[in-house]
Amino acid sequence: MKNVVLIPGDGIGSEITNSVTTILEKAGAEVNWVEKSAGLKAYEETDNPLPDDTVEAIDEHRIALKGPLTTPVGSGFRSVNVALRQKFNLYSNIRPARTLPSIDTPFRDVDMVLFRENTQGLYIGKEQWVEEADKERHSEAIAVVTEKASEQIIRAAFEYAVRNERKKVSLIHKANILKLTTGLFLEVGKRVAEDYPDIQFEDLIVDNMAMQMVMRPQQFDVVVTTNLFGDILSDLASGLVGGLGVTGAANIGDDAAMFEAVHGSAPDIVGKNIANPLALLFSSLMMLEHIDQHQVAENIRKAIYKTLVEKKVYCTPDIGGKGTTSTFTQAICDNI
Ligand code: NAI
Ligand code: MG
Repeated sequence: MKNVVLIPGDGIGSEITNSVTTILEKAGAEVNWVEKSAGLKAYEETDNPLPDDTVEAIDEHRIALKGPLTTPVGSGFRSVNVALRQKFNLYSNIRPARTLPSIDTPFRDVDMVLFRENTQGLYIGKEQWVEEADKERHSEAIAVVTEKASEQIIRAAFEYAVRNERKKVSLIHKANILKLTTGLFLEVGKRVAEDYPDIQFEDLIVDNMAMQMVMRPQQFDVVVTTNLFGDILSDLASGLVGGLGVTGAANIGDDAAMFEAVHGSAPDIVGKNIANPLALLFSSLMMLEHIDQHQVAENIRKAIYKTLVEKKVYCTPDIGGKGTTSTFTQAICDNI
């Protein structure tokens, strides 16, 4: 049994968490859930959106599965999610996007995995007003790109490609304009690529990438990029295969990993039993793979695909079904 910290989170969090733990139990996953709180619920109960015993539990067990969190206004945290990523140096944000059966989108046969640098770039929070008397308002932001962090995320992408028998890594940048920051990222990428002669390597400028992803997304396999570009392109990639409700995500560092749904707490549908559990479920499959329970993950994936083919009856309304969170969960369990 592997201990995993479970943070159900806010809003629809407990509904989709119940679904996921039910399905994993049915599939025989060897996981012992250590339930902890964070977000708005934790703030209301303890005055702290990220209680010490939650942090201590992640520190001890090193793996967490997390539902969506509402960051309470006025709690002194910019974002609990960002705080967790920084605290445990979860430098890789990994977002697979794979075409799913029976989910209508204009795109076919997409199968890409995007690696986003999760700790630097323009998202370090160094934004300020510049005082200039008698002039118009002036603000600026600083982007940080270090050789070490670039190498970590790029190497993580190549290692993933090797482990999963992927053929190509595409590095996305804007080195023609941001010559020092994303230029450094590109330079490190070219150097790291030399260590992986069996993996094809290419680099694309981000604006071209945006077009290519819509024109011919099938050409991409593993993609690696800096924080801001990764934030935008990973949502674009999700959109190609059905959106944030059906794509999972992982945040991985050298000695801790946190798996999460990328959507929010969906306040408009809380308590209606119509939340789609797939995003958190796919995140939990990434978790099972991370702890080497590959067969269980594969069995659940097959059951999900089978259920999606029958979707009109069992699946949640957001993907065109007539069912509820409960019927969807039950159908996946029955198909395992
Ligand atoms: P949201 O993702 O919660 O909702 C956007 C729309 O998508 C809503 O119509 C919602 O009903 C729908 N939706 C989301 N997840 C769904 C699911 N699993 N099944 C079916 N429909 C689903 O984004 P919104 O409304 O911008 O944010 C709500 C709250 O969530 C905010 O407090 C925000 O801060 C928080 N949030 C937390 C995130 C996290 O913990 N990773 C990420 C994004 C937002
Ligand atoms: Mg985002």
